[in-house]
Amino acid sequence: MKFQAKTGAASQQRTALAIVPVFSGGGLTSAARSLDAAGNGLITRAIRNGDIKDDAGELLLLTETGALPCQRILLVSLGTKAKLDRRTWCKATRSALAAVARGKYADAVLHLTSESVRDADAYRRARLAVEIWLDVSYRFTAMKSEPGDKPPALQTLSLAGNTRDQRAIRRGISHGEAIGRAVALTKDLGNLPPNVCTPSYLVERARGIAKQGRKMTLTALTPAAIRKLRMGAFLAVTQGAVEQPRFIVLNYRGARASERPVVLIGKGITFDSGGISIKPSAAMDEMKFDMCGAATVLGVMQAVSELKLPINVVGVVPTCENMPSGAATRPGDIVRTMSGQTVEILNTDAEGRLILCDAITYAARFKPAVMIDIATLTGACLVALGRVRSGLLGNSDKLVNALLAAGQAADDRAWRLPLDDDYAELLKSPFADVANVGGRDAGTITAAIFLSRFVGKTDWAHLDIAGTAWKQGKSKGGTGRPVPLLMEFLLRRK
Ligand code: BES
Ligand code: MN
Ligand code: ZN
Repeated sequence: MKFQAKTGAASQQRTALAIVPVFSGGGLTSAARSLDAAGNGLITRAIRNGDIKDDAGELLLLTETGALPCQRILLVSLGTKAKLDRRTWCKATRSALAAVARGKYADAVLHLTSESVRDADAYRRARLAVEIWLDVSYRFTAMKSEPGDKPPALQTLSLAGNTRDQRAIRRGISHGEAIGRAVALTKDLGNLPPNVCTPSYLVERARGIAKQGRKMTLTALTPAAIRKLRMGAFLAVTQGAVEQPRFIVLNYRGARASERPVVLIGKGITFDSGGISIKPSAAMDEMKFDMCGAATVLGVMQAVSELKLPINVVGVVPTCENMPSGAATRPGDIVRTMSGQTVEILNTDAEGRLILCDAITYAARFKPAVMIDIATLTGACLVALGRVRSGLLGNSDKLVNALLAAGQAADDRAWRLPLDDDYAELLKSPFADVANVGGRDAGTITAAIFLSRFVGKTDWAHLDIAGTAWKQGKSKGGTGRPVPLLMEFLLRRK
């Protein structure tokens, strides 16, 4: 698949399919005007006849294009809003590109429109168009004997815009490709079954990412090394499983060694049965997605390396299974974490925070500028925010606000929840320094409060992606979120 920037009049483009946005009520974008003039008013006629509906994303395929060098024109409505905004533009573009992905076109030219779109300049539109294409054309067929529906035929997607925007469009394409491929990697890792996507499999994929560029190194700690570090909480989670745990560190150096890194920590539970506090069997298969935080970190590390970003980033992934067995942790067990604090494990299903707390303690050795953990941590986050926004908590307003703004710009939104000290009451244990659960109230917050005990003074944020990392229903599968949010955040740091 190739993406390229294009310039010149729309009416001159030779292509199997010209994708042309139009305003409702007959206002033509400049690309539409150009084609309309050269094509004897074919677009104005279609609009006047009422053949294309008003709502953003409505489509009309024109197959009679007369003497025009494009074989077909796909009109896409931009809706009825007076001022075109980014979300409407995205909706229209997604609808058009999804139709292209279902069709049999070898190439297409998407006219980005030279009209202005609020919060989306030419760079942003090019980047989003590429990300959207890679999203709608994604298929997960790795485990099928027959691929089923054929992959999209499209070989080349050209993005046409003004001459003065060509550089911005090319830059948008390159960022969009890296982000779109990272999202696809994150989806793939989530979608793979838990008997394939094991901790050692994640190590192999991390090795592949490290090999792609010269600025990244991989360290994969074995069970013996993890024991030596005295990660008692992490070890308690894995001890019931036959599959061995791993602790993955990807270190990317794009800036001077003296520059403090962004450290990303991803929850990598490759299957969460709940352990002895076992989960109900309904939909338990979805707990293969409990490594989506880890998959996000691997996706982001791949994109950072591909784009050779001039920053330092460390990806940290504690990964294991949470299984019941005679060797498993019992509710009531007390373990000593790497930090020295003791934890009473009242519920073995609250395992994410147990592997993350040791990872956070370990991460301090990189002297992070900021630390961000990403985890499918609590069902309570789904109750609070549903599947639209990720939960976001943290000890630094500056960091939290930067992440909120990045999510907004990348259309991968988050919402902040509070972290007042008062909530710490809920985690008190009569026998250990802290309990690993705090009861039904404020589940997402108490989980984050638990993590905060291991953070110290570092600027830290926590993304709870329990509701956003995968979809249920007919489009069941990983979403690749919050890769776009984090990439936007990292791109803005330089
Ligand atoms: N991985 C789950 C959280 C989860 C549940 C994510 C459903 C997405 C959908 C996590 O390990 C877990 O089991 N959390 C418990 C915590 C509770 C025991 C305090 C939960 O949310 O029920
Ligand atoms: Mn659990
Ligand atoms: Zn879990």
